[in-house]
Amino acid sequence: MSHRRHWVLIPAAGVGKRFGAAVPKQYLELAGRPVIDYAIGAFIGHPAIAGCVVVLGSDDGWWDETSRYAGNARVLRAPGGAERCHSVRNGLDALAGQAADDDWVLVHDAARPCLRRSDLDRLLAALADEPVGALLAVPIADTVKQAQAGRVAATLPRSALWRAYTPQAFPLGLLRSALAHAEQQDLIVTDDASAVELLGHRPALIEGSTDNIKITRPEDLPLAAFFLNRQAQDQATC
Ligand code: CTP
Ligand code: MG
Repeated sequence: MSHRRHWVLIPAAGVGKRFGAAVPKQYLELAGRPVIDYAIGAFIGHPAIAGCVVVLGSDDGWWDETSRYAGNARVLRAPGGAERCHSVRNGLDALAGQAADDDWVLVHDAARPCLRRSDLDRLLAALADEPVGALLAVPIADTVKQAQAGRVAATLPRSALWRAYTPQAFPLGLLRSALAHAEQQDLIVTDDASAVELLGHRPALIEGSTDNIKITRPEDLPLAAFFLNRQAQDQATC
């Protein structure tokens, strides 16, 4: 049996429009380091991870200045695209020189700094006998309404609803085909799993911690600081 390696792809070419800061949110400072360094740091040094590619916007003037991983030989760079799905495709192309089609690629948002090692390990363990791929996700706590013109059109059954987080892990070849297929259909997918679902596959949902938030709006930054602080305290008391 071939040995399937695990690679990490960090899309970091967004501008953070909803956050609205002068700097893209992945470069905002969180306890002395840029947000993206926590996202990468969750993987670098993990024994199961072969390498990492970070996808950067063409006008990125922050990576070289702020990231401690800027000169790291195990962190490749790839150019960003117009939407996240295009950035991920570019990252896959950059990995293709080193990675095999059936190697796993774990795609993780640069704006998610609070990934726990235990969640990453649970995802990696699930991949051992996984035919399609898997993503971290969290069951929804609130009741969800479907809206139409500002009024409730339907209440969705909460027990079947999960929030999709990252990392999302798929074989490189499958993810490349899935994203190409979505693009051919003019669909802008907002996560990697949905592209794979469009091919008729059903990725596995792996329950993760609610800490693993994506920084989207200004109120998310102090929340991430709180989660990181709590994680550090948890480790100190183990
Ligand atoms: N991303 C990317 N290329 C893009 C758009 C987004 O690599 N063209 C990345 C972002 O940098 C982020 C991740 O995809 O790490 C998740 O996207 P999102 O949270 O939407 O970030 P932004 O697009 O930057 O934010 P916004 O949608 O508010 O502009
Ligand atoms: Mg976006």
